[in-house]
Amino acid sequence: MNLETKTTEGLKRIDTYHNLREQILPFCRLRYGDVWEDCVSGHRVGVLDATKLDDVNKIVNKEKTNLIINDPPYNVIVGNANTVNLSKIGLEDYMTFSKQWIQNATHIMSDDSHLYIWIGADLKGDFQPLPDLMILMRDFRELNPRNWITLRKQRGYGTQKNWMWVRQELLYYVKGNPNFNVEAEYTGIPKILRGYYKKVNGVITENFDRSKSQFIRASNVWVDIQQVFYRMEENVPGCYAQKPLKAIERLILSGSEMGNLVVDFFAHSGTTLIAGERLKRKVYTFDLDPIFAELSIRRLEHLRKTGQSGWQWRNPFPEIGDTFGVQQ
Ligand SMILES: C[S@@+](CC[C@H](N)C(=O)[O-])C[C@H]1O[C@@H](n2cnc3c(N)ncnc32)[C@H](O)[C@@H]1O
Repeated sequence: MNLETKTTEGLKRIDTYHNLREQILPFCRLRYGDVWEDCVSGHRVGVLDATKLDDVNKIVNKEKTNLIINDPPYNVIVGNANTVNLSKIGLEDYMTFSKQWIQNATHIMSDDSHLYIWIGADLKGDFQPLPDLMILMRDFRELNPRNWITLRKQRGYGTQKNWMWVRQELLYYVKGNPNFNVEAEYTGIPKILRGYYKKVNGVITENFDRSKSQFIRASNVWVDIQQVFYRMEENVPGCYAQKPLKAIERLILSGSEMGNLVVDFFAHSGTTLIAGERLKRKVYTFDLDPIFAELSIRRLEHLRKTGQSGWQWRNPFPEIGDTFGVQQ
């Protein structure tokens, strides 16, 4: 396989280039089992395993949360690379992995809380694991399905003989009856549906008179969020599964208040941490890979220092220099 694929980023995919990993690891301040505590806003970042309850307890330390936003590996191959971080495993093993981390999530959820799970469906693998995960969730009696959101991506994949695949799924479950802030649910897309009349309290009203907002609601198909790519400020080079800040911020605004704790078991580029910092929430997050924990901490420090939410195409590990010519 030709790994020297064209990229304009200042850092290659961290999971794909073994030499690159070796170069970066000495600059990572955390090792497995470590938790970094932020003295400014009280965030925590760890190198921990989502499937181990002791690890999860280590970072939350008996605190409960009313919002978890988890984006586990989907058991699909991204960009034709099967890597240690994103390895494709048997479905049974994947379901065991999922059951373990979901169980751990339920341990730290408060009586009224939200759980969001980003997940994929592999076209070449019988659409797994989306349907399997949905069925697995039925075993967790305290969690009730609340919605199934689809984020429409601009770039998709597919051939001319198929509909292009542009979907990214997001499952939404609740425990108890948590608050939902509907204001967070409005997009910046103006309403255009005029002339839709309805009788309200005996008076005929037009759609716009009844509106709470001049903008359309996000609903459960999100078409207004730009997929992250190297030209955007929020881009974190080296990451392969970065979620847009706007999507995470929408979830945080709808499901939490200022000062609340938000938890994310799969930090990667640290998007939940950055979204929480910007919205004045406290975030506990971790990743099994010390490089992604380091990237998350650096991204927070970079935000505080420069006001920028990412590095665009620039290298977040300048210590190792230019990585364009790196050998695998
Ligand atoms: C899909 S990415 C998360 C993307 C993230 N939401 C973002 O916006 O950057 C999944 C992450 O889970 C991490 N991971 C895989 N297995 C894990 C485990 N058992 N515990 C914690 N993290 C794990 C991977 O290293 C990877 O960084």
